[in-house]
Amino acid sequence: MSTTSSTDLTARYGDAMMRTFGTPQAVLDRGDGAYVWDVEGKKYLDFLGGIAVNALGHAHPALVEAITRQASAFLHVSNYFATEAQVNLAETLLRLTGAGDTGRVFFANSGTEAIEAAFKLSRLNQGRTRVVAMNNSFHGRSMGALALTGKPALREPFEPLVPGVIHIDTTIEALEAVIDDTIAAIVIEPIKGEAGVIELPDGFLKRARELTTEHGVLLILDEIQTGAGRTGSWFAYQQHGIEPDAVVLAKGLGGGVPIGALITFGDTSELFHPGQHGTTFGGNPLATAAANAVLAEIESADLVGNARRRGEQLKTAILGLGSPLVAEVRGAGLLIGIGLTEPVAARVVAAALTLGLIINAPNETSIRIAPPLIIGDDEIAEFITSFARALEASA
Ligand SMILES: Cc1ncc(COP(=O)(O)O)c(C=O)c1O
Repeated sequence: MSTTSSTDLTARYGDAMMRTFGTPQAVLDRGDGAYVWDVEGKKYLDFLGGIAVNALGHAHPALVEAITRQASAFLHVSNYFATEAQVNLAETLLRLTGAGDTGRVFFANSGTEAIEAAFKLSRLNQGRTRVVAMNNSFHGRSMGALALTGKPALREPFEPLVPGVIHIDTTIEALEAVIDDTIAAIVIEPIKGEAGVIELPDGFLKRARELTTEHGVLLILDEIQTGAGRTGSWFAYQQHGIEPDAVVLAKGLGGGVPIGALITFGDTSELFHPGQHGTTFGGNPLATAAANAVLAEIESADLVGNARRRGEQLKTAILGLGSPLVAEVRGAGLLIGIGLTEPVAARVVAAALTLGLIINAPNETSIRIAPPLIIGDDEIAEFITSFARALEASA
């Protein structure tokens, strides 16, 4: 336990940290599995998982061992050199995504940076400069990623952003109206996490694949939140029976170590040429060794299957509460959105925190949970008990 109190640290945070985030909900000290403890020793069940990042939970021995081993060899070399960790990770991602022998991987340090790489890549598609993105989408905060993000409130203070982006409603009709031979790429989240865990309409991705193929448009999927096993398949598009031209990953891939990746399929892999894109840290030995350990553990412990099964179990249990506050349960695997009948999501999150449960409210009528993929019956039972009490306290 820390010797400094939450109150002291929160005050120091308020004085020292840039005002980009709100007041912290707690000051955390350590974690183990699906649990974290604050500096006063209070234990919390972490059903947010660092916003869909901590795929293996906290302090997982396989991840700790891989990071420690890599740190004692070296942490970083420049991209003038290759390392085994980096090549192994690229090959594993090509296998798991299905991009295979004609695929290529670019490593970045975050989701935003990986999206930025995908956005730049789209400029190389036949000289086209128009890109389609969805209303209410989230792709990151850099000037390019923000240009793709379909949330006016986030965009407007920073305009003018990168030009050429057209936002459409997420409907097949809007898709059919906009895709033509002038479009370079379309960027889609298979499930809109930041919007409150909103799934695509039936047939949307299939139709997007047909139209993009017909018109030479790159189909870029933002799987930053949905990828690496979270939705009960390695990648969410695998549940839609399509393959994209590019997929963007981050979050769960490193299990908490910052890493992003852009993976291209087929001819799209030929677009970038030497010198056209780069990064100092992207794909360094530390980040790629961590991601290798995360993917190996997800694969050997069948955490993709666990995400699928536990997701169904959770959805049934949440609906089984019969709470008048719960309108619907959305999402796939362990990315779950709970739609509320009243705009009290912030109150539910605060009540849950008091009870020792960490969840999140992407907006006033949605609760999001994205627990570690390792959760089992005990964590689910504890979540349901605390969540039911948080709902009661917020009605
Ligand atoms: C779908 C999606 N895209 C992009 C991002 C940006 O990723 P990062 O915060 O790692 O830059 C996020 C982060 O929440 C996301 O959920």
